[in-house]
Amino acid sequence: MATDGGRIFSPTDAISEANMLKRPSHTIDWNPTIKHTFSLTIPPTVYPPREDTNLIAKRLIQLGPGRGRKFLEIGCGSGALCLIAASLGWNVHACDINPFAVAATRGNLEVNMQSGTVKEGGVGPEGFPFEGKFDLIIWNLPYIPAEEVSEVLGPMEEAALVDTDVIGLPHRFTSMTSKCDLLANNGKILLLSRSGAITRSGDYALRKWDSITFEDGEELVLYCLWKPYEMAEKIFVEQTGSTNDDLLIKSGIGTHVYTPLQTSGKGRRNRKWESIERSYAGSWIVAEGSRINPGLIQLAGGLAVLNTVGNPKLKLKWPNDILIEDRKLCGILVEGKTSQNSTTAVIGIGINLETENHTIDGNKISTLSEIGEFELHELDRRLTCELASLLEERQDIPPIDFGSIRSDVLSHIRLFGKPRYKGVVYDNFDLNDKGELIFDSTIIDDGEEVDWI
Ligand code: BTN
Repeated sequence: MATDGGRIFSPTDAISEANMLKRPSHTIDWNPTIKHTFSLTIPPTVYPPREDTNLIAKRLIQLGPGRGRKFLEIGCGSGALCLIAASLGWNVHACDINPFAVAATRGNLEVNMQSGTVKEGGVGPEGFPFEGKFDLIIWNLPYIPAEEVSEVLGPMEEAALVDTDVIGLPHRFTSMTSKCDLLANNGKILLLSRSGAITRSGDYALRKWDSITFEDGEELVLYCLWKPYEMAEKIFVEQTGSTNDDLLIKSGIGTHVYTPLQTSGKGRRNRKWESIERSYAGSWIVAEGSRINPGLIQLAGGLAVLNTVGNPKLKLKWPNDILIEDRKLCGILVEGKTSQNSTTAVIGIGINLETENHTIDGNKISTLSEIGEFELHELDRRLTCELASLLEERQDIPPIDFGSIRSDVLSHIRLFGKPRYKGVVYDNFDLNDKGELIFDSTIIDDGEEVDWI
């Protein structure tokens, strides 16, 4: 598509588009797996199934029977994924801004003896054509940002690849689904986009599920989004002793307490954790059972804070102290309580928000107010999303990716410096699967045994 004087769709494009519409439709046999074959008619201007469609199709098949649950596809194109979903027993709903795609999806469903409700519309000024809640929402997002389109892409079928939305379609989409409350309890969203294109996800937790990499190095990722710890109890209190202590007498993964004021806040090694004038303190039950990996929970806590704040001034000192310059901003404490062979693991996060006096017990501290405005409830909401993205487990979402937690933490701590242990500085170091620091044959499990230079 020509970007004519900054315009995404020029008069020349319109003429070429009109000519394209004169092409005949073509019919293909689509085989996303060896067991599935569908006959699809693709009218001109409609996006045909490609590798990205197949990636989503395979995941849909792995999700198993739909059992009448409500499925919504945005940007249904030829209707290939609607067909898969309908054949798996989902109650299919779909929309597309291209009327030819709406007609193709309706026709392809009918020819393959499946049914669904298909409407014209989408996530934008054209208006979203459905109400109610859906158990599964999918969207193969137009993944090329408009500013990267430098030459003629031609027909609308290619325009389906271009994100012309100034705030980005992923963001617009997640805001709309939250605002319109489109996701049913225990529902989930599958979004296919460029790797890294979806980082913040509104009210949702987010985890990579599948991916494909093309010859030019471009990686497309299927992301899964869900409401974080949605069935769990969430408690806000104006004041408490310690949010960790409050949770150690509770149960249920995701149960969460947060407050601006702790009167007996606990730090590592039995130290105190003081609330300053404006503080955040929050704790979550993140694991229950016999297979708990506290080291990796600690690392995930640090990463959740870094991802929440998203500012390069924040530095991560292994295992999970967060600093601005060399002044502590945030502390993280993982504790467990075991009874009858089952352990409840609690992670507590304390963050300094704002103070006049930047010293605690003679140590200089930093506050989030140094880098921006952070409102307590919004901060808590984001932290919960980030923690769930890293640590929540549910049968129908991607498994926890401990490998990527470890490698993300490693790249942050490499930015912080090199460990010095017993007078020797180590250029090469790694983290093992318990989150412990390793160099040569030494394994360190306590941050206070090393200093960083
Ligand atoms: C440290 O750096 O020593 C760890 C500090 C951990 C503080 C948090 S605040 C929320 C939770 N409740 C507590 O009592 N402690 C943790």
